[in-house]
Formats: sequence, C-alpha cells, structure tokens
Amino acid sequence: MNAPHLHTYSTPQAGSAAVAAELRAMVARQPQAVVGLPTGGTPQALYAEMVRLAREEAVDWTSLVGFNLDEYWPIDAAHPASFRTFMRQQLVEPAGCDAARFHIPSGEVQRSEIEAHLGEYQQAIRQAGGLQLQLLGIGLNGHIGFNEPGSAADSEARLVELAAVTRERARDQFGGSPVPTHGITLGIADILRAQRIIVMAFGAEKSSVVHSAIEGEVSDACPASLLRHHANVTWVLDTPAASELSLMS
Ligand code: PGA
Repeated sequence: MNAPHLHTYSTPQAGSAAVAAELRAMVARQPQAVVGLPTGGTPQALYAEMVRLAREEAVDWTSLVGFNLDEYWPIDAAHPASFRTFMRQQLVEPAGCDAARFHIPSGEVQRSEIEAHLGEYQQAIRQAGGLQLQLLGIGLNGHIGFNEPGSAADSEARLVELAAVTRERARDQFGGSPVPTHGITLGIADILRAQRIIVMAFGAEKSSVVHSAIEGEVSDACPASLLRHHANVTWVLDTPAASELSLMS
C-alpha cells in the first residue's frame, strides 16, 4: 500500500488556489491536458478560482479536456440539478472552456444502453491518452464519484444505486422533487488508471472519513481508502478536515 502526500491549508480557498495553480501550470506545459473532474460542494472554490484566473489573469483554458466522474440517472441534461448543468454553470461557460472538450456521462440514455454508453465513455478517455490528473471529492460515507461503500477496487464504469446519505445531501439541489435513486459513474478501476490523483476535502464534517480513508483499513467499506492502491495521490485538506489525522502534515 502507498502513503499519500498530505497538504493542509488554513482555508478551502487556499487549498483550492493551490490546485488551480497546478492546473494552470499543466495547461502552460500542455494546453490540451486531460483531467478527470468532480462535482459537488467541494470543487466549487476550485472552479471559482479557475474562473478568476481566466478573467483576471488571462489564463486560457480553451484546450483543456475534461471528463466528469458521474451523473444522476435518469436525468435530463438540462435539469437544474444535473451535473452537466453544474459544470456548464460553475466552470465551462464562465471560465471560457470549450464545451466540446468537456465530457460527462449522459443521464438521458435508456437503461439498456447504459453499458454501451459507458464503454464508449471509457474508450473516449483512452483515446484522449488517459487521465493525466483525476480530481476528486470524498463523500461523507467515503464514496468517490458515485462509488458507494461496497464498490470493489476493480469496479469499472457502471450504473449504481445511490446511498441514502448521498441522496439526502442532494435534496436541496432537487428543490423538493425526488432525488434519483441511481447514478452512473466511472469505477474505482477507472479512477486508479489516472496518472495522478488529487483528493480535496474541506470542513470538520469530513474529518472522520478523511481519517478512515488515509489511516483506516484499506477496504471497500470506505471506497476512498482504495486510493492507497495508487502510488501518486495527494490529499488537499483544510485544517478542520485534517484534524483527526495522526500524521498531520
Ligand atoms: P461534497 O460531496 O463535495 O458535496 O461534500 C463530495 C462527494 O460526494 O464527492
């Protein structure tokens, strides 16, 4: 098993700015860098910083290639709570990214088409040369993407049933209408194929799961602990999220 790199910042904004600076350096070296992307509360400060860099420091993200981790299923692409809508609103349009280079699994495919759709999605990642960097958040239950507890290290892209805590946290976004019971997600195996992984976790509510993922047993009970199968993982934390680690960085 591998020990991850741990970086702790005083605020989510400071940690997010450090990740944005890495992305800026990546696209300076290689404008068409290929990055795996999360949604949720965690990456919002990162995406806001990428927007600021585009507007105030003329950083050009137009060649950046993105592959999102997951999407609700079924969901209309235009639904206000879809991850496609989130990415368009939070990053792609305001940061001046090229929407044609930003990929996300479609929540509109029929159940019988999901396997083929996700196979094509994996193939598109391979054709782009693979993910150079996978960015992740972590769920309160240790999920990464929609890989809920019980997801195996060798799991591939697939349809999954969402955990109760995942649906509960999404309730506000759905504004009273029911949260989908399922999602489609890249698997743990897809995530582990990235050359490098950065996991962001902010806030005291994440301290316990961060501890389990980094210092607990490597087990599918905490899917993020399976990241210790990968040799190049960096955790970007704020002080509250790091507070239960014995190896405080
Ligand atoms: P959050 O979700 O960023 O909204 O806390 C994290 C995740 O589920 O990956």
